[in-house]
This record gives sequence, C-alpha cells and structure tokens, in this order.
Amino acid sequence: MNTPSLLILAGDGIGPEVMGEVKRIITWYGEKRDMEFDVSEDLVGGAAYDAHGTPLTDATMAKAQEVDAVLLGAVGGPAYDNLDFSVKPERGLLRLRKEMDLFSNLRPAQCFDALADFSSLKKDIVAGLDIMIVRELTSGSYFGEPRGIFDLPNGEREGINTQRYTTSEIRRVARSAFELARKRNNKVCSMEKANVMESGILWREEVTWVHENEYPDVELSHMYADAGAMQLVRWPKQFDVIVTDNLFGDLLSDTAAMLTGSLGMLPSASLGVPMENGRPKAMYEPVHGSAPDIAGESKANPIACILSFAMALRYSFNDGAEADRLEAAVEKVLADGARTADLLGPEDGTPISTTAMGDAILAELDASL
Ligand code: IPM
Ligand code: MG
Repeated sequence: MNTPSLLILAGDGIGPEVMGEVKRIITWYGEKRDMEFDVSEDLVGGAAYDAHGTPLTDATMAKAQEVDAVLLGAVGGPAYDNLDFSVKPERGLLRLRKEMDLFSNLRPAQCFDALADFSSLKKDIVAGLDIMIVRELTSGSYFGEPRGIFDLPNGEREGINTQRYTTSEIRRVARSAFELARKRNNKVCSMEKANVMESGILWREEVTWVHENEYPDVELSHMYADAGAMQLVRWPKQFDVIVTDNLFGDLLSDTAAMLTGSLGMLPSASLGVPMENGRPKAMYEPVHGSAPDIAGESKANPIACILSFAMALRYSFNDGAEADRLEAAVEKVLADGARTADLLGPEDGTPISTTAMGDAILAELDASL
C-alpha cells in the first residue's frame, strides 16, 4: 500500500496549538513505529478567510477529497462574527462535511477514571461511562432547502431552515450505528421527535426497518430527543450507541461531552463511503471549538485532538492496536495527575501547558515500547 496521506487543517484559535501536539505524535509514529504518513497542511475557517477571502478554497476542498484522512483543529473566532454568513469560518467546515459526504459522525463520550471526580455529575453516575453518539452529519436542518432570511409583504422578516430527511439518508446512518453496536454492547437507542415532527416519524420507521431487516440481533430502543437529553444526565450508563439527526446530535453530543468532565477530552470521526482503496472518506476533529479566549496561551487541552488521531488510526488505518496504545498513553498520563486548566477546579493546583501535556503523552508512548 502507498504511504497513507493526511491533510492537516489546523484552523483558528486553539486549533493550531492542539494540532501542534498531534503533529509531534505523528512524527513519533514515523520514528518509533515505522508508520510513515504523507502529511500536508492547509488553511480552513478564519485563517483561510484572512488569506483568501473564503473559509475553504476549491483547491483545499480538492485536496481533502484526495487524501486518506483529514485532521481538523477548530474554526471560528470573534474576529469573524460579523462576516457575511456565506463566508463565516463554520461554512468551511460544513462544506467539507457535505462535499466529502461524511454522513456518519462518531462522537464517543468516555469518562476516564482519573476524571470521574471532575464531572459536574456525581462520580457513580459517570465513572466507567462509555457511550457512542452517532450523529447524522450531511442532512437535516443544517442543509435542508428552502433556507434563508426573507422579507415578507407586511414588512416583517422570516428566517427559514428546513428539517428534511430521506429514506436512504436515514438508513445509511442507522446501519453505521448498528455496525458499531455489534462491536460494543449491541444496543442502539434512536432519538428523534416523532411526537411532533414528520421527519421524526420517518426517522423512527426507517431505523426500525433497518433493524428488522438487517440487524435483528442488535437491541433497538427509541426515545424522544428531549427525554433522551434528560436521560443522558440522569443515568447515562443505560446507553451504548445513540443514533440521531444532525441538529439533535449537535446538542446531545455537547451534553454527553460534559459528562466526561471536559469538552477538551472528546474526539470525533466523520466517515463517508469507502474510497477506491477501501478506506472510508474521513475527517477527524475534536468536538470542542476554537476557544478564542485562551488561544495562543498554551493553555488548551490537546487530548481531544490527540484522541481524534487515535480514531484515525482505528477507523482509517485499521490499526486498533496502535489506537489502543495512544489511548492508553492518554489514560496513564491522566491517572498520573497531568492536568491542563480545563481539568482543574479553581483550588486544584497548577495546570500544565498544552506542550507539557504533549510531552507527557509522548513520554508514555516511549514507555509503551
Ligand atoms: C460541532 C460544531 C459545529 C456544528 C459548528 C462549529 C458548525 O458545533 O461540530 O458540533 O454545529 O456542527
Ligand atoms: Mg456542536
């Protein structure tokens, strides 16, 4: 096989800092594990807007389509808040998701033992938590037409977004949830609002169809998304895999993230259909945003971005053993007490820097050899 290719789009805010630590880890794999990657870098979000007047150039989009995996940092920041909607940093990210057709967004929420005390929920509720949210990522109200802000004859304005799903869009993301469940605890809970939305009724019917026809061995339940949000904070360990639409998935995954102690811990994988070489189209990114308030200060937690690279090893490069190695290194470093600022309360001692966290993880990787 050819050397696997990676496109790094570090983006804005803390993106370049946390990605800096990932680059060191990629180098480590080249030097110590003989795993070479063909790495290129480019701009996305506000950084691309500053350089080119657009949050994602066509050339960058074309590169993203060609590589084996895209690693993305974060996009956005106050400097771009007043830009026209069409060139906002987020549009770059959404274009990547849409044009690469990354319909299945995997957002694991795992509570590391060392951080169970740090969650805003009681320790016994989150300790040992390991759930996977599968968020549909290329359709629903994020992309549905018609959309826009329109002037009405009576002088009012109206803002429209359309929640829209088709049979095939629901079935394909349901399949990816059932496939994951089979490798985990064999349970899927599907969340929608079938009580008020037709798109929710269709969602429930199609997920049920896939279940009955293709995955009868997996346990399936359904929940209204509002009740699901409540259950996520009441007793999250009842879940294994949750499958839900684009907008509900956005909300539910932030909720789930907080169960684990910090948004700075959560990785994600966005997967599409297999390419010619058999690997899925893929982009990996931390769930957290660009955190402009701490950008440039080496305060950010690089773990979400590093664990996103672990997901790349697992899902793009089929190397579960190396993904396990990297995840174990992170777990060990946390168990030993390494804490960036997001993992400390006001009276919990001194945080370490972004690079110090990277140093600690690299040392653990060395120790694992
Ligand atoms: C996420 C983010 C994005 C989203 C933003 C940055 C466009 O919140 O990945 O969860 O809403 O999908
Ligand atoms: Mg979000």
